[in-house]
Amino acid sequence: MAEMLIVGIPASLRRGAFSTGLLDAAVELAPEGTRIEVADIHGFPVFNQDEENDPPEPVRRFQEKVRPADAVLFAVNEHNYGLSAAEKNALDWGSRPPGQSVWNGKPAGMMSASVGMLGGVRAQLALRQSMVYLNMFPVNRPEVFVAMASQKFDANGRLVDETARKVVRAHLIELVRFARVLRPDRDRGPEGRAPGP
Ligand SMILES: Cc1cc2nc3c(=O)[nH]c(=O)nc-3n(C[C@H](O)[C@H](O)[C@H](O)COP(=O)(O)O)c2cc1C
Repeated sequence: MAEMLIVGIPASLRRGAFSTGLLDAAVELAPEGTRIEVADIHGFPVFNQDEENDPPEPVRRFQEKVRPADAVLFAVNEHNYGLSAAEKNALDWGSRPPGQSVWNGKPAGMMSASVGMLGGVRAQLALRQSMVYLNMFPVNRPEVFVAMASQKFDANGRLVDETARKVVRAHLIELVRFARVLRPDRDRGPEGRAPGP
């Protein structure tokens, strides 16, 4: 079976971010036959519709990286009960211009981490809400919430909590299964698929 490409979407620009540590863990725990590559969201200006037809170079590179992916995997953190501005901005740039969204029809995993007690659950819901408009297909279970993140990563930012690692792995297995189920639809190409944003 052909190798599956999953592109990881970071939530944070912070060095040593817990959410980025989740993506590093996913790379380590990738199921057989799967390659996970993490996209870069540094250097994006705040989305400006005047520039959507000729986006800045970091945005263009991001779009080119995400577009061919069989599935995407969002790392999520939580800022004020929602997505971080950095992640929402990347989501918005990726969705434009009209008819050229990199997200349309993509299966998607998501994993959140927060130093708080709820592990970013509210930000995951915000992401799911955007996914309706973006015509994405999120994995529902198992959910990955890493609460009290400062206790689950070591000093080098590696996810060391065994329970969390197991659930990341289980989520990835489900994402791959999901992407295989949806593949015939994706293979129809943009013309054959339901029109998206
Ligand atoms: C501006 C700001 C807002 C935050 N709001 C929340 C929040 O609503 N819920 C929560 O659980 N944690 C909140 N936090 C804590 C972050 O989830 C925590 O700092 C997390 O580690 C940041 O993600 P990162 O490690 O990926 O950079 C907030 C942190 C910042 C800086």
